[in-house]
Amino acid sequence: MLSKKMLDILNKQTAKEVYASHLYLSMASWAEAEGLDGISEWFYAQSEEEREHMMKFIKYVNERGGHAEIPQVDKPPKKFPGVKQAFEAALEHEQMVSAAINDIVELALKEKDYATNNWIQWFVEEQREEEASVQAIIDKLELLGDRGLYVFDRDIMSMRGHE
Ligand code: FEO
Repeated sequence: MLSKKMLDILNKQTAKEVYASHLYLSMASWAEAEGLDGISEWFYAQSEEEREHMMKFIKYVNERGGHAEIPQVDKPPKKFPGVKQAFEAALEHEQMVSAAINDIVELALKEKDYATNNWIQWFVEEQREEEASVQAIIDKLELLGDRGLYVFDRDIMSMRGHE
């Protein structure tokens, strides 16, 4: 059985995962409207992954005798100043999510909830991989500069390294 505190933090994390999915969806739609199909596909796929993360939290809470809340989702930004800036915003968001996952680990250890600690480790690893893959994209964009964007747009789908 989850503690009230744990239930609360897990429900809050569900909301963060849904927002991440929406944020990537908005980035995908923006990139698609800009004619950047490869980048758009990358963001669409990322949005799906975040939805899967949300589902994992919902299922886990219910499996442990809680009742997962389905959150309201804030509207993400519609436009982004550029491709690099969009990925920088993605990285910033992932870093925030990583910190939130770490808070769950901390609470699980404090409460001696070893089942949750064990379960959440998958997300610890997932966040490490996500941050690394977004950082790799930013590094590549920096190397290419704006003129390389067309090549990069075709190239990006081979950069989904962590699946
Ligand atoms: Fe599920 Fe990338 O946070």
